[in-house]
Amino acid sequence: MMWMTHEGSRTSPASGQGLATERSRWRAAAMAAGMLVAALLALTLAGCEASYPRDTLAPVSDEGDVSAWFFWLYMILDTVIFAVVCALFVYALVRFRKKDGDDGSLPPQVYGNHKLELIWTVIPTIIVLVLAVVTVGGIFRLSTPPKIEQKVVEIDVTGKQWWWEFDYKHEAITAANEMHVEIGTPVILNLTSTDVIHAFWVPRMGGKRDATPGRTYPLYFTPRELGTFDGQCAELCGASHALMGLRIVVHAKEGEDSYDAWVAGQRAPAREAETDVEKAGKQIFLTRGCVACHSVKGVAELAPQARGAISGPNLTHVGSRSTILALTRENTVDNIAAWVQNPAAVKQGSRMPNFGVNADDARAVATWLHSLK
Ligand code: CUA
Repeated sequence: MMWMTHEGSRTSPASGQGLATERSRWRAAAMAAGMLVAALLALTLAGCEASYPRDTLAPVSDEGDVSAWFFWLYMILDTVIFAVVCALFVYALVRFRKKDGDDGSLPPQVYGNHKLELIWTVIPTIIVLVLAVVTVGGIFRLSTPPKIEQKVVEIDVTGKQWWWEFDYKHEAITAANEMHVEIGTPVILNLTSTDVIHAFWVPRMGGKRDATPGRTYPLYFTPRELGTFDGQCAELCGASHALMGLRIVVHAKEGEDSYDAWVAGQRAPAREAETDVEKAGKQIFLTRGCVACHSVKGVAELAPQARGAISGPNLTHVGSRSTILALTRENTVDNIAAWVQNPAAVKQGSRMPNFGVNADDARAVATWLHSLK
């Protein structure tokens, strides 16, 4: 550290001119400080807005609270340190700047200061140690599985290019992209993948974890708010990575809209085709190759060994989902028909081949699929 002093030789040639430069320097310094404060304020306020659907800082689970708490802990501490360092820096700039009339010689050169060096070694060490202990505590908290004696919803989650498969272990349900859970009931996810590495992330539910081929990683959360919470695959996984959304719907414990009611609906076989168009659509589905990848309970079911990397979503109750193609489109007959007719045009790199289905046939299949509530 080098402290510069400018003593003596203060013979200002034109004191009026010197005063003017002095003022403009202060003005520049004040402006820089103002901009810094404004930037910090903008950053802080941006974090306060709670209306973003994928906002980590508006958690709806206990685990989400942990992540948000750590964000604020680090954010506030780092902001204080940043402000202190900036203040010292600006002070040194102003206090030891070259003044009018300085003779241009070097100030006294100072090397080493034991007291200062001790201070700036010990303080950061204490800060880092405290943060390490607290952070490891948080990691243990997030990786503690819920107690099994209570009710849990356990789901095997498989990331695939570019959608999510959900196997409900105790309910014997297979669904896709929209995960249904119960308020106040712990959820255990077992995450894996059959192709490349994906990452399961529903920001407001807390926690982000990779879905890796050949491995299974757990993720736990207990939802405490009713509602729909969207997420996104958070690991670059190919052409349609950006179109690999997911959704968690939190149900009540009792009543018409309860989790148990949803489970009962999903366990039922697929609804019968009724109209002529629905019947035609079902026939096209059965004869044009769709059943090589898709199951519809009570209509055509894939053997478990056929559900590998190339298989597509289980469509037994596809009509009950709010979106298709992992949140890529609204679930409408038009959107399903467009997809069936030319998958790659709707979702780049799609694993579903173009079967050369004409517009009328595509519409019939879409009508039948959409009727499968
Ligand atoms: Cu899957 Cu990105």
